[in-house]
Amino acid sequence: MIHLSDINKTYPGAVPLHVLKGINLDIAKGELVSIMGASGSGKSTLLNILGILDSYDTGEYVLDGTLIRNLSENRAAELRNKLIGFVFQSFNLINYKDALENVALPLFYQGVSRRKRNKLALEQLDRMGLREWSHHLPSELSGGQKQRVAIARSLITKPAIILADEPTGALDSKTSVEVMKIFRQLNDEGMTTVIVTHDPNVGAQTNRIIRISDGIITQQSHA
Ligand SMILES: Nc1ncnc2c1ncn2[C@@H]1O[C@H](COP(=O)(O)OP(=O)(O)O)[C@@H](O)[C@H]1O
Ligand SMILES: [Mg+2]
Repeated sequence: MIHLSDINKTYPGAVPLHVLKGINLDIAKGELVSIMGASGSGKSTLLNILGILDSYDTGEYVLDGTLIRNLSENRAAELRNKLIGFVFQSFNLINYKDALENVALPLFYQGVSRRKRNKLALEQLDRMGLREWSHHLPSELSGGQKQRVAIARSLITKPAIILADEPTGALDSKTSVEVMKIFRQLNDEGMTTVIVTHDPNVGAQTNRIIRISDGIITQQSHA
């Protein structure tokens, strides 16, 4: 599903920063993996490259059979929208839209009718145990509920892969466990999932831990 070979990435600047130094990584369909490492080690850069949100300088990235190199913006967006759901530490919900509208938003951009997108959004919220909260604003929800809304939103386009950057970073440990339960359940249903975290308890709940240090993969261990 994901194949990276010898990926290098340097952020240009007065002092160029070589953040990824020859990353080799394969992630098969249906895997639940975590990427762990210290702050600044390159985890988010790697995840953003996987999500075609950022470019790389040298090496090869093949995503679901497509070589991700010199893609046009349109083609990159098309692949991203088709294949990938994103989940972030800070939830990235729109404050003035209720839970249902937030979940339905990706379908709005796809031109799906209001009736259909509300129906599908309610199904996803129901799946997250949030049916009764569909008309609440983010400010009326707990952190765990907000992240479940964000996960519902990431699922609404039926992605093949979920990429989550520190999805439990803003949550207490009990709520983190609940959110990890959701990722595990989605994985049981076949979802390929990559979770960036610095929390060993989160890593321990995935099936493979990839450790990165200063832009280099130092260790991979299966749970
Ligand atoms: N857009 C950018 N421009 C320049 N430097 C960046 C940029 N994004 C991240 N960095 C730097 O690259 C390094 C790796 O960042 P990042 O991938 O965010 O690490 P992590 O997610 O592991 O904390 C850090 O030193 C960070 O400051
Ligand atoms: Mg990061």
